[in-house]
Amino acid sequence: MKGRFITIEGGEGSGKTTLIQKLKASLESNRIDIITTREPGGTEQGEQIRQLLLKGPTIRWDALSEALLLFASRRQLIINLIKPALDAGKWVICDRFFDSTVVYQGYAGGISIPLIRQIYAAISEGVMPDATFILDIDPVIGLARASKRLTDESNDEIRFENKSLEYHQKIRDGFLKIAEEEPNRFNVISAELMPEEIFLRLMRVIEPWLKTK
Ligand code: TYD
Repeated sequence: MKGRFITIEGGEGSGKTTLIQKLKASLESNRIDIITTREPGGTEQGEQIRQLLLKGPTIRWDALSEALLLFASRRQLIINLIKPALDAGKWVICDRFFDSTVVYQGYAGGISIPLIRQIYAAISEGVMPDATFILDIDPVIGLARASKRLTDESNDEIRFENKSLEYHQKIRDGFLKIAEEEPNRFNVISAELMPEEIFLRLMRVIEPWLKTK
């Protein structure tokens, strides 16, 4: 039986990393063979592309070039890691995935969303998340939470966080819009809830899968 593919999305400071760690631990205690990964990155090639994308001045990349770099990283991740894992019956959790490109490069960056979907269809090898969780947060709160990371001098991967509040508001609206369009796959959870409650809401969606694994 094929594994399950879960993606976690959200704006800056929405707590994706903490949630993913908890989910991983919980699935492992249910004896599920699970792999966690992230985008951009997740493979040697993808991590190199991540460096190109996340460092340097905000205006470093044209939005379409940015999208194509993300898709190059994504294709490597699908072929080298996600597809083989799912085919082997493992579960995969990915910190951000293709919906981030729809929202960041599409809704906020102005790249044609049908084009982004078309490119995804061409590179995806039929891989599609079984469930996507959007951790929804007011960007004023999210950016304040993320500001610790921004003032950490050892962290130079802040090209996106440095964009304006208006931009981050667009990101939030974009995520809510795609969730509305595809309610079967998306689950929106307020990132302002207590971490325990966020986790419980996520598990409510996933628990039925544990019985059929
Ligand atoms: P990351 O350090 O992972 O930030 P976060 O903790 O917020 O996930 O950096 C990823 C950044 O890359 C994030 O600001 C969003 C951006 N991004 C895109 O613009 N498009 C994409 O398709 C992906 C995967 C990420």
